[in-house]
Amino acid sequence: MPALKLAPSILNADFTELGIAIEQVEKGGADVLHLDVMDGHFVPNLTFGPPIVECIRKKTNLPLDCHLMVSNPEFLIPLFVEAGANSLTVHVESTKHIDRTIQQIKELGCKAGITLNPGTPIDQIKHVLDVVDLVLVMTINPGFGGQKLLPYCVDKITEIRALQPDLDIQIDGGVKAHNLEELYLAGANNFVVGSAIFNQPNPQVACENFKKQMKTLQS
Ligand code: DX5
Ligand code: ZN
Repeated sequence: MPALKLAPSILNADFTELGIAIEQVEKGGADVLHLDVMDGHFVPNLTFGPPIVECIRKKTNLPLDCHLMVSNPEFLIPLFVEAGANSLTVHVESTKHIDRTIQQIKELGCKAGITLNPGTPIDQIKHVLDVVDLVLVMTINPGFGGQKLLPYCVDKITEIRALQPDLDIQIDGGVKAHNLEELYLAGANNFVVGSAIFNQPNPQVACENFKKQMKTLQS
């Protein structure tokens, strides 16, 4: 299994103080910054686009991991690469030509990730697992932070890990201190954490605690 990574999602941060939020998670030991892009069409919520990613790029050296919850991502991909994203993860449900979209991301010099909604079977991504840099297993219906993890999604991690021992398997939705071990044992190595960091009084300390827990799991 690849190294364990903590990927704080800024979705639940105070957007008027984004610079402070980024500094807090950086000090807390974040490995990557997870940026949730929503278009109000693919998911019933709206967040931010390339101009904000460009501002974030200037604030941190952490890898910027953009989770694109948008329809027809191929139109936006070049803009996010230009803005400074290091990896772009697209939903298999969001485009008709998933292989072409993955190739597009890689040709632009970015890491390519694939993801799927809870109700989508892993068969739909099985054949592209060899050509992606990351697979994101959604354990909530995308669109909002603070939801409960859907337990039936955990089996998908185990199935994907059995197929791909070295792949970066990211998990997103309802990740908390109390289920981290179960998700790690299922095969996840890259943990997106939103509300369990930003709904805490001190996001830096919350990150430090997750990192400690991850260190213990790995030892
Ligand atoms: C939701 C996003 C998540 C969100 C997770 O669609 O993809 O990254 O921030 O939030 P929590 O950790 O609160 O479930
Ligand atoms: Zn996300």
